[in-house]
Amino acid sequence: MYIFKAAVVGAGAMGGGIAQVITYAGLPVIVKDIDEKQLELARKHVEGIYQSRVNKGKMTPGQMEEKLGLIEYTLTYDGFDDVDIVIEAVPENMKIKQAVFKELDEVCNPDCIFASNTSALSISEMASATKRPHKVIGMHFFNPAHVMKLVEIIPSSETDQDTIDTVEQFAQELRKIPVIVQECPGFLVNRLLMPYLNEAVIALQEGAATTEEIDAAMGREGFGWPMGPFTLMDMLGNDVCYHVGEYLSSKYGDRMEAAALFKEIFDAGRFGEKVGAGWYDYPGGGHSAAVDELIKKLQEEGKVKTGTKFSVDRLMMPMLNEAFMCVEEGIANVNDIDMACIAGIGMQVNKDGELVRMGPLEYADELGLDVVLEKLQALEKEFGPRFKPADILVKKVKAGELGKKTKRGFKEYTV
Ligand code: 3HC
Repeated sequence: MYIFKAAVVGAGAMGGGIAQVITYAGLPVIVKDIDEKQLELARKHVEGIYQSRVNKGKMTPGQMEEKLGLIEYTLTYDGFDDVDIVIEAVPENMKIKQAVFKELDEVCNPDCIFASNTSALSISEMASATKRPHKVIGMHFFNPAHVMKLVEIIPSSETDQDTIDTVEQFAQELRKIPVIVQECPGFLVNRLLMPYLNEAVIALQEGAATTEEIDAAMGREGFGWPMGPFTLMDMLGNDVCYHVGEYLSSKYGDRMEAAALFKEIFDAGRFGEKVGAGWYDYPGGGHSAAVDELIKKLQEEGKVKTGTKFSVDRLMMPMLNEAFMCVEEGIANVNDIDMACIAGIGMQVNKDGELVRMGPLEYADELGLDVVLEKLQALEKEFGPRFKPADILVKKVKAGELGKKTKRGFKEYTV
C-alpha cells in the first residue's frame, strides 16, 4: 500500500511535530484536536519549525508557504474518509486512545492504517477496540519529532505484513530510521531510558547529588549525552515521564519501581519547560528551591534513603542491563538496539573530549562484559535487586565472551 494522505489526531507537541515531518516530506496531512487552542499551538509550533529552516537559509519563504499549505487543522473528522494512515498522538490513556480509534473506525475507509504514537502502552489493547486489529500498529516518534531520526515500529500479534511494510516504507519517506520492535511495555527505547531517568531521580531524592551536578556528569562534557537527564525530562514533560514510569513500574515490578520524588513533582504540577516549572525553574532553567523543598520533605518523612553516593555507572548500568534483557527476549536485534539509542535519544560517549556515537551494547562490549558484570554486582550489593545482572550477561561472561577484548560479546569484532 502507498501513503498519499495522512492524518494526525492530537495536536500536542508530538502531534504538531509529526505533522511537520509529514509535510516536510511533501505529503498532505489533516491535524485534528478537540480543542481550538491546542490547534493554534500546533500551528505556531509547525510554523516555528519551518521559520527556523528559512532563517537558517535551508528553505525559501515560498517553499515554507507551500509546506504550510499541506496542513489542514480541524475540530471535526471531515476529510478523514480518504486518508491512508492516521497517527494518534492523544494523551497517554488507554481509554482515550481506544475511544479515538473507535471513532476513527466509523469515519475512515476500511484499508486505512491506524498508528499510535504511544510511548509505552499496549498496541494489542488499542487494536482490540477496533474492527481492524490487523491494520493497527505502533509508530513511535521521539521528541523533538522534527529532529530525532528514530521511529520505532511496533506490530501487535495481529498486525498484517502489508501494514508493517507500508509503515516501514512511510517512515523512510519521512527520512526517519525505522526500527521494528517486538511489543513489550515501553517498547525498546523508553524501556531502556526509564531506568536511567528513574535512577537519576532516586539519586537526587537521596541527596547523592544535585540536578546540576547529575546533568553535568551525564551531559556532553561528562558521559557524553546531548543533555543531562533532568534537562531531558523537563523537555519531554514530567507528566509524560511520570505516566510512562508508573506504567513500566506496574509491568516490570521492583526493578522499575518509580522514584517517590516523581510523584511529588507530578502532584506539584512541575511538568517541565512547557509550564515554566520542572526540575528547574523557567525561563532560564535555573536551580529550583521548590524542588529542594520537595526533597527535604521526603527525607524528613523518612520516605527515602539518604546519604547514598552518585556515580555515572549508577545511571548507565540499569540502562545497559535492560538492553541485555531486550536481547535475551528478542525485542530487537543487537544492531537495531544500538541504532535505536543513537537515533532516538542521541546516545554518544565522550572519549577524551571526542563525542563518539555508540549504543549501549557496543558500550558494554567496549567496557568489557566482565567489568560490566562486576559493576552491576557491586551496585546490587549497595542498592538492591534493581541492579540484578541479566542472565544473558552472566552466561556470556561464563562463556568467555567478554566484548571487544575477546572479539566477541554482544557483537562480533574482527579487529
Ligand atoms: N524543544 C523542542 N525543540 C528543540 C528543543 C526543545 N527543548 N531544543 C532544541 N530543539 C530543536 C531546535 O529548535 C532545533 O530545531 P531547528 O533545526 O528547527 O532549528 C533542533 O532541535 C536542533 O537544536 P539545536 O541546533 O539547538 O541543537 P542541539 O545540538 O542543542 O540539539 C537536541 C538539541 C536535538 C534536542 C539534543 O539536545 C538532543 O538530541 N537531545 C536528546 C533528545 C532526546 O533524547 N529525545 C528523545 C527523548 S525520548 C522520547 O521522546 C520518547 C517519548 O515517548 C518519551
